[in-house]
Amino acid sequence: MIRKGIVLAGGSGTRLHPVTEAASKQLLPVYDKPMVYYPLSTLLLAGIRDILLISTPADLPQFRRLLGEGEQFGITISYAEQARPEGIAQAFIIGANWIDGQPCALALGDNLIHGDHLYAMLLASAQRTQSATVFAYQVRDPERYGVVFFDADGRAVDIVEKPMAPPSNWAITGLYFYDERVTEFAHAIKPSARGELEITDLNRRYLREDSLKVERLGRGTAWLDAGTPDSLLQAATFVQTIQTRQGNLVGCPEEVAYRMGYIDSATLRRRALQLGKTELGRIMAEIADGLHD
Ligand code: G1P
Repeated sequence: MIRKGIVLAGGSGTRLHPVTEAASKQLLPVYDKPMVYYPLSTLLLAGIRDILLISTPADLPQFRRLLGEGEQFGITISYAEQARPEGIAQAFIIGANWIDGQPCALALGDNLIHGDHLYAMLLASAQRTQSATVFAYQVRDPERYGVVFFDADGRAVDIVEKPMAPPSNWAITGLYFYDERVTEFAHAIKPSARGELEITDLNRRYLREDSLKVERLGRGTAWLDAGTPDSLLQAATFVQTIQTRQGNLVGCPEEVAYRMGYIDSATLRRRALQLGKTELGRIMAEIADGLHD
């Protein structure tokens, strides 16, 4: 099993300036929760309870204030600084000591994944400890992302980062599962033309080693990122729509922790009380009382 996971919540959020000139992007609200709750929930759902949160020196204290050591979710959260935004793959160099030669997952702090069959797929990915797993999702604007293309047999051929002429519309999402070679491979990456250690180069290394599983996410899954004004608003609207229609929560780490058995109903109820009269608190209390399937 992959038991460790990093949430990367660094960067300068330039695409959201001036909003993020004085505030961390990953702490902005996506409807009723801070953005970082969503990737955190994804890792918890994958069975990962040992988390390293990486952010900028300026923003790290706010994340600590929000998440503490993770006891409210029945998990352990450690913290590390990324002094400068030098690429996503740098997370594995910053976290090398903490990873300690073990397999490790990574979730980008601005990514939201929600859907059917996700639980089974995440668990299967966390069980793959001799290879890496990434997820591909069809989008209208692949040039904003890492893009994978497949041969006629559906095998991944290559991945390119933010191509001007995308070879397909399959974007690579910001959720990655790696085996124990990840730190070694990350150290071997050279900075790209924009001076960053690219996660795409790490994925290409696994692909070259014939060790990359690319899972395609279908229509039953929503993948959203929240790094621009439009995508942030869309993500918020999505969460609002699902939650108010179904009463099911999207991206709530307390709920995931409870359903996964990391915390008991008394802990969930206490947390619901802390949230006072919010709708989120009310739904949490209902879940603790067994009123939701
Ligand atoms: C990063 C990665 C890209 C990936 C995307 C997912 O891009 O470099 O490969 O598709 O995250 O959100 P960024 O959002 O940092 O521009």
